[in-house]
Amino acid sequence: MREDWMQPILDEAKFHGLERTARAYPEGGGKIKIDGKEVLNFSSNDYLDLAHHRHVMDCSREALDRYGIGSTASRLVTGTLPIHEELEARLAKEKGYPAALVFGSGYMANAGTIPVLVGRDDTVFADKLVHASMIDACKLSGAKLVRFAHNDVQALGKRLEQFPAAGSRQLIITESVFSMDGDIAPLKEIAALAEKHGAMLMVDEAHASGTFGPNGAGLIREHGLEDSVTVSMGTMSKAFAGYGGFVACSSTLRKLLVNSARAFIYTTAPPPAVIGAALGIMDVLEASPRLGAILQANADYFRSLLHAAELDTMQSASQIIPIAIGDNEKAVAVSKKLRDQGIIAAAIRPPTVPAGSARLRLSVTLAHHVDDLERAAKLIIRAVRN
Ligand SMILES: Cc1ncc(COP(=O)(O)O)c(C=O)c1O
Repeated sequence: MREDWMQPILDEAKFHGLERTARAYPEGGGKIKIDGKEVLNFSSNDYLDLAHHRHVMDCSREALDRYGIGSTASRLVTGTLPIHEELEARLAKEKGYPAALVFGSGYMANAGTIPVLVGRDDTVFADKLVHASMIDACKLSGAKLVRFAHNDVQALGKRLEQFPAAGSRQLIITESVFSMDGDIAPLKEIAALAEKHGAMLMVDEAHASGTFGPNGAGLIREHGLEDSVTVSMGTMSKAFAGYGGFVACSSTLRKLLVNSARAFIYTTAPPPAVIGAALGIMDVLEASPRLGAILQANADYFRSLLHAAELDTMQSASQIIPIAIGDNEKAVAVSKKLRDQGIIAAAIRPPTVPAGSARLRLSVTLAHHVDDLERAAKLIIRAVRN
């Protein structure tokens, strides 16, 4: 076995307080039981508390009963089921685009789409903080990758001028709600720059889908930017509480993706129970269009409690609320202390976030009631101060 190079890498990570482990939890969601004790989980992406929603589970079960456990083939062979098409039609309608395409995960939606939009002769302009799946996709595409300062429209404008299209394609990529900072991109201004330069624009709405906009359709829809955003990407793994990713786009781009997105073509179609659950979520979002607004009001309240104690929540303006700590080991120590007190608040460290910016990343969900938020705020404030 030629594995002698592995342990030193792990030792080094441990030395820097960066060793990672995947701990098993008895269940998911914002409020869980561990060893019979109720714990508030601020590290779940089940923002709308829908993972155990009865209608969603029924829809998932119905799909399972009707189609079995798997789609049994890739989409272009015999894996496309009527429910895949139904989900795509509903996603397109809700997102305000002519078409949508479902992928196996959000990661795959990004990994599949970006290399179709750009290739070796082209340039991608990426916000400094875009998710790893977008960066991996850029590398896969072979395009020149130009980063611009986070949410800085002027910096983006300068970059676009510095690296003109000159006959090739330009693609701007950003998130609408940033996954680790919880802040919001200036989408209108970015869209205007994209228009000015004739660049394509792709926005990852992983954390805005379900949580912002009409029926949870996201921020592109809220601002009426569908015509200037080439690709609206989303995932069924956050507020949708399940699994799978998607893009909403023009019919032409959908056709092109079906023909050339490798992460769409060379993989098995998502399983029926997962697609059924996503359809159930869309029913819930349609029937209860204010869920996102309630979530944001609760998050505002929680942030105000933390601000009152002068904790630094960075530029958060969503259900994702970081608390800046800085030092990796301190972030882990605070997270451990809170865990002992029944609060799960994951410490997020480099390389997920830039060096020196370790933080607690808190996600408010609809499982957290006002008294939960007040209790959690008190414990968090004490743990961070000590
Ligand atoms: C901004 C962003 N994009 C994409 C993804 C990938 O989505 P998924 O977990 O569905 O693969 C995530 C989450 O991991 C994310 O936070």
